[in-house]
Amino acid sequence: MDVSQILFQDDKSVIDLYQLQELFSLAAFWAKGRSIEDLGIAITNSEPVISAWDEKKLVGFARANSDGIYRATIWDVVIHPDYRGCGLGSTLVKTVLSHPRMNRVERVYLTTTHQQKFYERIGFQPNTSTTMLFCNNAKLTGVATTEQLEESLKV
Ligand SMILES: CC(C)(COP(=O)(O)OP(=O)(O)OC[C@H]1O[C@@H](n2cnc3c(N)ncnc32)[C@H](O)[C@@H]1OP(=O)(O)O)[C@@H](O)C(=O)NCCC(=O)NCCS
Repeated sequence: MDVSQILFQDDKSVIDLYQLQELFSLAAFWAKGRSIEDLGIAITNSEPVISAWDEKKLVGFARANSDGIYRATIWDVVIHPDYRGCGLGSTLVKTVLSHPRMNRVERVYLTTTHQQKFYERIGFQPNTSTTMLFCNNAKLTGVATTEQLEESLKV
């Protein structure tokens, strides 16, 4: 496929949430069934958000969270099935990595179930030694109250 007409965008205001929901349902097993409202929250709180377009059709998406210097995490990397194998996925991830919010970051993390080889080609290394996971349905006790937080700020 000739992908020379595909345009990459770093403006998150162009994202059509309905097309994104459809792309995830089609091609991202971990992101099926996400609501429009929740997708909007994720995009608002992510930077950069990179999308790939064939005219008005959303064909690729990735987003990241970054502190700009020490740590960042990339999420939700996906290329539409009809557009795979042409270098778009690699360009998408490299575009995320070269964004000003990412390009000085010391360590960039991501999680992947099946695509280790794809990321290794870009320069990622397997990392099994440092990863922990907290699921937000776990019960938390011992959280500081608002009063305790205010008190600690006075010290
Ligand atoms: C993973 C994904 C984004 C790759 O997109 P793509 O556009 O097909 O990837 P590219 O064409 O840029 O491939 C870049 C290189 O990685 C290789 N590659 C791609 N997928 C691969 C895989 N699953 N295993 C091994 N190599 C792979 C390509 O052969 C190519 O190699 P080359 O540089 O030697 O030519 C795409 O397959 C996808 O959207 N998959 C479903 C969603 C997904 O799993 N996302 C990752 C979640 S962590």
